[in-house]
Amino acid sequence: MTAFQTRALLKQLEATVEDNLGRHLAAAEDWLPHEYVPWSEGRNFAVLGGDPWSAGQSRLPPAARAALELNLLTEDNLPSYHAELVNTFGRHGAWGTWVNRWTAEEGRHASCIRDYLLVTRGTDPKRLEQARMATLQAGWDSGDKPLLHACAYVSFQELATRVAHRNTGRCCADPVAERLLARIAMDENLHMIFYRNVVQAALEIAPSQTLRAIADEVAGFMMPGSVVPGFARRAAQVAQAGIYDLRIHHDDVIMPLVRHWRVFEAGGLDADGERAREELAAALGALDARADRFVERRAEAQAAQP
Ligand SMILES: [Fe+2]
Ligand SMILES: [Fe+2]
Repeated sequence: MTAFQTRALLKQLEATVEDNLGRHLAAAEDWLPHEYVPWSEGRNFAVLGGDPWSAGQSRLPPAARAALELNLLTEDNLPSYHAELVNTFGRHGAWGTWVNRWTAEEGRHASCIRDYLLVTRGTDPKRLEQARMATLQAGWDSGDKPLLHACAYVSFQELATRVAHRNTGRCCADPVAERLLARIAMDENLHMIFYRNVVQAALEIAPSQTLRAIADEVAGFMMPGSVVPGFARRAAQVAQAGIYDLRIHHDDVIMPLVRHWRVFEAGGLDADGERAREELAAALGALDARADRFVERRAEAQAAQP
């Protein structure tokens, strides 16, 4: 897509963005992150005369701790996501207003997960800070995705984040953590709805190009947390625990959006649009098969454990 075509499409989608910004602002509840943190559990660390951190202080199951750290470090990389969105959507009009509002909402997520982990001694604060520094210095580079690819990607990514926070909360065995993560997941859900509606409008305006974007993003999906140090190990632990795995990715993230957009019923496609739809069907089938294999292997490994 040329720069001229992108500018034209941004303009064509502006009314949808404005409507959905209004809908979002009416639906989003103001909430206060400090009300979700059990401050009375907090105490000083060694430098201020308290206890140093040690692994035995955490009461979180190991998989929940891995998931919380991964979710937090992913949220921490917000400056990079903001820069990516400004690059793609611009800083003017309804698009610019959305980018800033979204950034302000996302900023709460890292701050209250970090507060929760620090006051409950749920993670090693030194290693967490080292990982945060490494993550932000790595940054997140989406590879200058074209506009529609970016819209499809963030639809899937916001839903993935919602599901990951929600399932992490259930795994924490702590009602305070569950309440906090359910609250964050509600934000992620509203973000997903915003982008989902933008993609829906794009399917009306440019069906073939939008289908191409959806097909490419399903086939090449990567979580933004992939730049976090030890991502593969952390993601494997989270998948083994059933917090976020390929089956959940296919069933609870990719398919609900694909169904919502009715991509297999869309008309008016050109040759590349039809090709994209065939590629999407193949990518969905391959993802489903990989999810089956993963679930089988996980069950075999669990059965083999003493
Ligand atoms: Fe978030
Ligand atoms: Fe979000």
